[in-house]
Amino acid sequence: MPTHLVAALRELRATIENTIGPVDAPIGLVLGSGLGAVAGQIENAKRIPYAQLPHMATSTVAGHAGELVVGTWQGKRVVALSGRVHFYEGHGLQQVVMAVRLLAWLGVDTLVVTNAAGSTSPAMQPGDLMLITDHINLTGSNPLIGANEPALGPRFPDMTQAYDPELRALTLAMAQKHGIPLHQGVYVGLTGPSYETPAEVRMVGLLGGHAVGMSTVAEVIAARHMGMRVLGLSCVTNLGAGLGTGALDHAHVAEVARFATDRMTRLVAAVVDALPADLPVHARAS
Ligand code: HPA
Repeated sequence: MPTHLVAALRELRATIENTIGPVDAPIGLVLGSGLGAVAGQIENAKRIPYAQLPHMATSTVAGHAGELVVGTWQGKRVVALSGRVHFYEGHGLQQVVMAVRLLAWLGVDTLVVTNAAGSTSPAMQPGDLMLITDHINLTGSNPLIGANEPALGPRFPDMTQAYDPELRALTLAMAQKHGIPLHQGVYVGLTGPSYETPAEVRMVGLLGGHAVGMSTVAEVIAARHMGMRVLGLSCVTNLGAGLGTGALDHAHVAEVARFATDRMTRLVAAVVDALPADLPVHARAS
């Protein structure tokens, strides 16, 4: 698989560059729930549906249209994954993280990952935003399982500062400057697709988790493997199971995420705007 992985990335990048030319974007955006609107704000955008790219899985989830968008946002060159694939769709984790790995090969040094999540305490309410300080991987798997490909990264990547402290500080400063309330907390990734039981939400809270979701952890592990700096933001769409009244429902989750889009977009825009203009383009792997 590792050699195949390098070959797949090479082929993927070649396909993109043959279609739209060199990307060389230092900033990558994974537009999960709550940030999809950014895809429409990217200037001089060039879009490639995942379906037109080799080795890329396509999402089956409503509201997760899959395309790569390259262009300029806040005066900076960005490449966005508009829509992601999830483990629960039946893809292997190596497939799930392929698009994030591709971003590193397209130059991304600073990766912004967003998601929708449930909260494990009433301290975070639907519509609130949370800066991810750390994560707990409860998916029972890891995208790096299998032989390691040294050309991509180390066998045992460090995860001490998976969510970059400088980017977190910058994001807190931007939230304060723009009057956007921002919680901080630990994101716990489970596979889904069933929502948690109330007992599981209580367990996650006892383990030190503030938010639960079904994405992000595998992507961040792969991103750190490849040496990208990561900023993670959750849009709290609901109280975790058992904390609120009534049942959880995807349509409601998606609706709250849309409602929070404006604030999430303003926050990420402020962060991207504040990043240095001369951000390094990630060294091109062969
Ligand atoms: N649990 C898991 N994933 C989620 C939730 C939740 O409550 N809300 C949005 N994504």
